Amino acid sequence: MSSPSHPTERRAIIDGCLAMNRLGINQGSSGNLSIRVGEGFLVTPTSLPYDEMTPDDVVEMGFDGTYVGARRPSSEWRFHRDILRARPDVNVVLHTHAVHATALAVHGRGIPSFHYMVALAGGDSIRCAPYATFGTQDLSDHALAALDGRLACLLANHGMIVLGGSVKAALALAVEVETLARQYLLAQQLGEPVILPPDEIARVAEKMRRMKYGQPLDDRDAPEDTARPRG
Ligand code: 13P
Repeated sequence: MSSPSHPTERRAIIDGCLAMNRLGINQGSSGNLSIRVGEGFLVTPTSLPYDEMTPDDVVEMGFDGTYVGARRPSSEWRFHRDILRARPDVNVVLHTHAVHATALAVHGRGIPSFHYMVALAGGDSIRCAPYATFGTQDLSDHALAALDGRLACLLANHGMIVLGGSVKAALALAVEVETLARQYLLAQQLGEPVILPPDEIARVAEKMRRMKYGQPLDDRDAPEDTARPRG
């Protein structure tokens, strides 16, 4: 049999899935991950434990919903397809059942701007998409709407979706969203926390953009508004 296409991306999918379980933001064979390739995308197969997954198991799909490979694609292939098709700004779609994000989502609650780091997801809140049965077009439509202008959303009674330019970026944001959900749940034990106003979140977002906040610098050319390296 000839070797499968996109070996680097197939490996990145498996490593990304193993990482999300190791990081404690997903469990078992819940969750799924896709990467844009060529005229379509690669996506995890349905219901296969990540520690058993080989590069051949990763499924290649077209935006027309057809697939090639021995395995069936994730039951959530529709939202992976619809998000990657609608959002040329992202290359990776990551879905997890992270415990604290899901605890909020089962109440239909998103994450408001109780903490400035909410701005990392692209707005002044992380919305919660309404419930729809897993794998349905309705769920995909709700998710796409909740992600409008954002890189993350919760899914009611289900979990979260995070978008990124790379698997690394998506994983980092997923950890951040799960941390925010945990902080928000804890903070609520003392009552409703202080919510930062939209103009402050806009200021934070602009500062994050200028500082390339959360992105490692690969040279000594520090962006505006950061301390300068000595010498
Ligand atoms: P799959 O194994 O089909 O990807 O389903 C996992 C899941 O989390 C469904 O939302």
